[in-house]
Amino acid sequence: MIVLKSRYEIEQVRKSCQIVASALEAVKKVIEPGITCQELNDLAEKLIVQEGAIPAFKGYRGYPAALCTSVNEQIVHGIPDGRRLEEGDIISLDLGARLNGFFGDCAITVPVGNISGEAERLLKITEASLYQGIQQAVVGNRLFDISHAVQSWVEKNGFSVVRDFVGHGIGRELHEEPQVPNFGSPHQGPRLQEGMVLALEPMVNAGSFKVKILADGWTAVTADGSLSAHVEHTVAITSNGPEILSRLC
Ligand code: MF3
Ligand code: CO
Repeated sequence: MIVLKSRYEIEQVRKSCQIVASALEAVKKVIEPGITCQELNDLAEKLIVQEGAIPAFKGYRGYPAALCTSVNEQIVHGIPDGRRLEEGDIISLDLGARLNGFFGDCAITVPVGNISGEAERLLKITEASLYQGIQQAVVGNRLFDISHAVQSWVEKNGFSVVRDFVGHGIGRELHEEPQVPNFGSPHQGPRLQEGMVLALEPMVNAGSFKVKILADGWTAVTADGSLSAHVEHTVAITSNGPEILSRLC
């Protein structure tokens, strides 16, 4: 069942999203060669707790941290540790928070110092694919119109979309129905309705879409070792079009 949200509930999700988005902005600012993923996690967690919110990922199915830090060929769910970032790396930062019983979820991928032209292009195309999807998040469309828009943009630009992980509904739960794949056929899937709130999160690989899970049971990496990027916004579907709740206001 897809839970439709009232205006009040959407504003609650927005509050959680704003806490997450501003924490990510702050983490992004301290990224430079030499900083550790653990330090990034600790900053993100501190900022969430300071706002009176709860880190949503910590303890979720046993995930041990507040922030997911996925470097280079890591796709999602990288566990922060003492690894030091190096010039030329790219790092995905995925963060969730709960406030007053409502979740917010957002991710960005950022460069560490100067990065290669190929990595630059991957970041640009991945971010643009999210906006291609968001544009389709309108009343009357079907769910996989979003999926198709993401996939066709990514593939047209020579990259691939990950199949093994998907976006999701969000609200009083971190993961609600429906699942939102980043690939699919247009005009298929449930009709989009006013009050749906979706976390859209394309994961884009420079090479093949195939995935491996590391021995820690969490970290997803590209099977071919190619670079991967991940971005996420929480979006409400309204009569006035898509509202990006995790864009800083
Ligand atoms: N944004 C991801 C998701 O919605 C992050 C979840 S990490 C986990 O699935 F640790 F909570 F699983
Ligand atoms: Co998510």
